[in-house]
Amino acid sequence: MGKIFVAKLYKNKKNYENKHLTVCGWIKFLRNSKKIGFISLDDGTYIKPLQVIFLNSLKNFQDISNLNIGSAVCVYGKFILTPNAKQPFEIKAEKINIIGKTPSDYILQKKKHSMEFLRTIIHLRPRTFTFAAINRIRSRAAFALQKFLQDNDFFYIHSPIITTNDCEGAGETFTVTTMNLSNPPKTNTGIIDYEKDFFLKHTMLTVSGQLQAECMASALSRVYTFGPTFRAENSNTQRHAAEFWMLEPEIAFSDLSDTINISSSLIKSAIDYVLKTSISDFEFLSETYDKNLINKLENTVKNEFEIISYTEAVNILIKSKVKFEYEIKWGNDLQTEHERYLTEKIFKKPIFVVDYPKNIKAFYMRENKDNKTVAATDMLFPGIGEILGGSQREERLDVLKDRMQKFKLKEEKYQWYLDLRRYGTMKHSGFGLGFERFIMYLTSMTNIRDVLPFPRTVKNADF
Ligand code: 4AD
Ligand code: MG
Repeated sequence: MGKIFVAKLYKNKKNYENKHLTVCGWIKFLRNSKKIGFISLDDGTYIKPLQVIFLNSLKNFQDISNLNIGSAVCVYGKFILTPNAKQPFEIKAEKINIIGKTPSDYILQKKKHSMEFLRTIIHLRPRTFTFAAINRIRSRAAFALQKFLQDNDFFYIHSPIITTNDCEGAGETFTVTTMNLSNPPKTNTGIIDYEKDFFLKHTMLTVSGQLQAECMASALSRVYTFGPTFRAENSNTQRHAAEFWMLEPEIAFSDLSDTINISSSLIKSAIDYVLKTSISDFEFLSETYDKNLINKLENTVKNEFEIISYTEAVNILIKSKVKFEYEIKWGNDLQTEHERYLTEKIFKKPIFVVDYPKNIKAFYMRENKDNKTVAATDMLFPGIGEILGGSQREERLDVLKDRMQKFKLKEEKYQWYLDLRRYGTMKHSGFGLGFERFIMYLTSMTNIRDVLPFPRTVKNADF
């Protein structure tokens, strides 16, 4: 047999019983006596390492015994089931090739490091059990979300990363330019002249692929875009990153209730898939960080999400008489503390809040008949707060133009977006799932910096 991954051995050990095979990986732990040695070999494919036994009959026995934690080796030997031992199987080495040595001052020794410390070595932390597990779950979750969408007739489209619009209108964009910043060209009135820039106009990193997804949904019916999005938000919190991934489905011929149904089915199906495919990682995270993790996820799959209106939410919060840091009154946006109170103290499960005041939401959201609210929803999760934001889009040309005026958006810049309402306009809706916030929920990590392999947050970007 050729090279086998450790995960395969755990998945189907009977298949490999008494076979000769090769496993390559890094030494997690090594101990030896004069005659015999043991290696815990980790190739990152599974939460548990593979036990390797090596005897002094190997001609490089002494060299192997001298290896430090972190060294890379390839082991060839016989795979044996060990039903009476602590580990279910082991490999009896007949040959061990030393591929890459590690000196003894290697930082990741067999001891627990704090999450704060590990954030200072983000290039090495994927080698720890915790971060390997998080990144495996991240990969499977990205797949599971897309599997659900593909199974439900959504096409994966790619919205651009460089854009000319600030979709959410929050003014939190990163400018993309090739101009000489120490001496940029200026107009007669002294402001920076982007007409002399690379694209002959001001361009930014996208905050959301939604508007482009709307163009594509107006042609292909059901689409999603999934990619990095960027926000120059100056909020140094546990749940804000400057670069994060967003999954944005856009659904033609649909209204807000379709968005609610599809997004809750999507979340449930993805959690269910990841639980099934990564149960050993969840068991590890549950033992190490949150005893209730698996139970929490199973309940999320099983139970209906609650739906309440923004107005009801505000009333509940006022009635609670809790002293919140941010004032709670109709017309103000809900803050994380409010969102968490609703999900953790009142409903004890994920909820959708619908019909927000029109003045605190983006220009593209559809106005409700009450003239005060828009058909918007935020999905709120216990422990996190907002995880997803969506809405029915304003499909009526005149109402949309009106709203754009109120938001002081220049109509001439949005002719392409208005064309969607001019030619074959239809009811449509969509949403954006904050992928990292979803991974935080899946892993019970409390800091977004720990679910992004290379986090970019305010005042911090490494590599
Ligand atoms: O609520 P947001 O701003 O919605 C949009 O961008 C819409 N255009 C989406 C759509 O309808 N297609 O962002 C969507 C989600 C939020 O609910 C949150 O989970 C996440 O993106 N998010 C962030 N995640 C990490 N760091 C940040 N700075 C984030 N800002 C938003
Ligand atoms: Mg939002």
